[in-house]
Amino acid sequence: MSVTESGLVGAAQRYLMNNYGPPLAAFVSGSGSVLVEDSGREVLDFLAGIAVCSLGHCHPTVTAAISEQAGKLIHTSNFFANEHGPEVARRLEDLLGIGEGRVFFGNSGAEANEAAIKLARRFAGEGRRRIVALEGGFHGRTFGALSATGQFAKQIPFEPLVPGFAHVRPGDIGALEAELTRGDVAAVMIEMLQGEAGVVPVPDEFVLAARELTTGNGTLLILDEVQTGFGRTGEWFAFQRLGIVPDMVTLAKAIASGFPVGALFARAEVASAFQPGDHGTTYGGQALAMAAARATIQTLVELDAPGLARTKGELLAKAVERLPGVTGVRGRGLLLGAMLERPIAKAVQTYALEEGLIVNAIGDSVVRLAPPLVVTEEEITAAVQRLGRALHRAEVEPGEGK
Ligand SMILES: Cc1ncc(COP(=O)(O)O)c(C=O)c1O
Repeated sequence: MSVTESGLVGAAQRYLMNNYGPPLAAFVSGSGSVLVEDSGREVLDFLAGIAVCSLGHCHPTVTAAISEQAGKLIHTSNFFANEHGPEVARRLEDLLGIGEGRVFFGNSGAEANEAAIKLARRFAGEGRRRIVALEGGFHGRTFGALSATGQFAKQIPFEPLVPGFAHVRPGDIGALEAELTRGDVAAVMIEMLQGEAGVVPVPDEFVLAARELTTGNGTLLILDEVQTGFGRTGEWFAFQRLGIVPDMVTLAKAIASGFPVGALFARAEVASAFQPGDHGTTYGGQALAMAAARATIQTLVELDAPGLARTKGELLAKAVERLPGVTGVRGRGLLLGAMLERPIAKAVQTYALEEGLIVNAIGDSVVRLAPPLVVTEEEITAAVQRLGRALHRAEVEPGEGK
């Protein structure tokens, strides 16, 4: 008997852990902004694998690069260099535009943040061990990243966490100053547009103050651009709008179109604190992953990813804002949160999928929209119609969608 006799969703429920909850659907192929269910039904994907598939599903250039590299060389270990890693790192340095740096490659956003936390402590030395992060910020599920995450419900079941983390409220410059005054803070860690918290922007003046206060205090500034990076917010990286220079930037998600890659970029002076043997991971920076990242970044540059996010984002935000039941849209570029009049986000998500649209409920009253940056105007029009129908159904029968 095949494991999929009860369907892919049933098989997943039988054999996979329940940490994500039951799958909402099962997909077998995809192209651009469209995913195809196991039943053959086509669905518009306005989540893009959670801000990962910015070039859409299976972009031909990326698929070709992965296929070609898979036939040539997959993995050798980090005892050896490969033909793509240094070029991907060079491109990151170029796009970030904050001067010379060095890159550590891992396999996820959480790993990029783990590396940043370790490097910060290594650079700061004895006496400066603490990391100050923000309430609402999300940095991943591994212990260091989870300790930095400012969403306490995600932490409590797993205590004790890593010692030496504190959280301040975004916007509370006084609280940040008080933490820094103690003189024992290695780094301040900020997610500028808090995606997992409901696409909540951290006030610009707070980020600017954080840069100023950390500079004056000898503390590093780490920006988590895992979700916001690679054009999604209308800039290559969200911090560029403010013209600040962070000491480290963590990256993942869109970097390789869904091939698992995370990266930590650190200014050269900071990066030099890592000595051989201080940190590592078996798969990080391997030839196949780097081929996927190289083709992705090259294509994002050719398509002007930030420009796409700005124009398409404006269209989408304006249309969603006008829908009955939506009180406003926040976020930037194509990382948007539709705020709902009533706490029916889960029902909206369920009905939207029935209508042929993937969106993501965050909490009770926010629906996250993060389509591929290559989404077309026609797809935006169709998605907004489907979202409108889902909102209407959720208003009438909120219980059905639970
Ligand atoms: C801002 C941010 N940082 C870190 C992470 C963790 O990345 P990963 O799930 O790849 O470990 C995420 C994931 O959603 C994220 O949005």
